[in-house]
Amino acid sequence: MSRHRIRVAGAEPALAAALADILIDCVEGGASVGFLAPLSRARAVAFWEGVLASVARGERLLLVAETDEGRVDGTVSVSFAAMENQPQRGELNKMLVHRRARRAGLAQALVTAAESAARAAGRRLLILDAVTGGDAERLYARLGWQRVGAIPDYALFPDGRPCSTTYFYKQIGP
Ligand SMILES: CC(C)(COP(=O)(O)OP(=O)(O)OC[C@H]1O[C@@H](n2cnc3c(N)ncnc32)[C@H](O)[C@@H]1OP(=O)(O)O)[C@@H](O)C(=O)NCCC(=O)NCCS
Repeated sequence: MSRHRIRVAGAEPALAAALADILIDCVEGGASVGFLAPLSRARAVAFWEGVLASVARGERLLLVAETDEGRVDGTVSVSFAAMENQPQRGELNKMLVHRRARRAGLAQALVTAAESAARAAGRRLLILDAVTGGDAERLYARLGWQRVGAIPDYALFPDGRPCSTTYFYKQIGP
């Protein structure tokens, strides 16, 4: 297993293709992450180009996990709340780890780094939603996130089956 480094990425155009690979792999693996199967490469790249544009506008933090050789195997984002009365809040989303790199602690390292980066950016409250009963839900609970509750029929799995979502929050600063 390669070693990974977690970093806060800039709006680097080359990342769109690498992150598209990870998104496609997660959808093919059955994860409910915003898209139905089959997810074309063009749509996946367009999605990440949009994310990179929002990074450039300062609307979100994008973190990536890279091997020593520069291969991107995982990512997570923190989107800043758009409304002016919520400058303290961010939303953790699009946590994705390629299947080739799972169960080695990457997601845990990504979430911990995202919390630190959000705190450094002046946020003190993070929220997120995760598929109820999925691998991610266990991880967030382990990392001290507070479970708020589950909402049935919230989204769809890539094959069209409905899935329940659980909301979490974590206070990361005073
Ligand atoms: C959910 C997801 C991000 C987790 O990524 P990951 O990098 O495998 O997560 P981690 O390695 O930190 O933890 C996963 C498990 O591996 C275990 N693990 C971590 N390091 C390990 C190691 N060195 N050896 C053995 N097991 C290890 C963890 O304890 C955890 O165990 P658990 O499932 O019993 O709770 C990944 O499965 C994924 O991308 N899924 C599809 C997309 C998705 O659902 N995203 C979440 C949206 S909210």
